[in-house]
Amino acid sequence: MIRVLRITRDHPQYPQEIALRELVLLRPIDYSVDRFMTEYPGFEERFVHFIAIDAQPKGEKLVGCALLLPPADGDPESAAKGGKLMQMAVDPQRQREGIGHKLIVELERYAFARLELARLFCHAQLSAVPFYERQGWKIEGEQFDEAGIPHRLMSFQAEVPNRV
Ligand SMILES: CC(C)(COP(=O)(O)OP(=O)(O)OC[C@H]1O[C@@H](n2cnc3c(N)ncnc32)[C@H](O)[C@@H]1OP(=O)(O)O)[C@@H](O)C(=O)NCCC(=O)NCCS
Repeated sequence: MIRVLRITRDHPQYPQEIALRELVLLRPIDYSVDRFMTEYPGFEERFVHFIAIDAQPKGEKLVGCALLLPPADGDPESAAKGGKLMQMAVDPQRQREGIGHKLIVELERYAFARLELARLFCHAQLSAVPFYERQGWKIEGEQFDEAGIPHRLMSFQAEVPNRV
């Protein structure tokens, strides 16, 4: 059974979250979480961390993660943009089982109900755009490159009737 948890960096599964982000997202572009933390100081601390855990007979296994970067305090431009969904990854052997869906539903619920944000956005790799569209997210603007990978800006508004 898959459970989605909101964790802080002192959670015992946090090292597995880092490992999954590196495996799925960062190593393929020659990056690491250490380098990310150096180039984006303060982000790791600001992130709200969501993890998906599979309870198996031989123990719990982390199978997915998604991070929410809330708007910067006291920055109206950042508040208007809303929260940024980042570093969403599902174990390559467990994709297309609904784990990504469960993660994004929890992240949306937290962003809209708890943080009272009006909007979420992300830079979606082209290959992941259909996944976000299935979740009701909309493409905005033109395609752009980030870390050498084509991306689309996608967003999700709190007003849109949704599953939250
Ligand atoms: C993108 C990702 C997070 C999706 O997670 P997932 O657990 O595989 O997705 P789910 O199983 O919850 O899929 C939910 C729905 O989206 C669809 N979907 C998922 N990935 C898809 C894809 N690449 N293309 C088309 N449809 C897709 C599923 O078929 C499912 O459809 P349904 O509602 O009709 O059943 C995951 O595949 C992943 O980690 N990919 C590699 C890293 C990545 O691209 N991260 C995002 C960076 S922006």
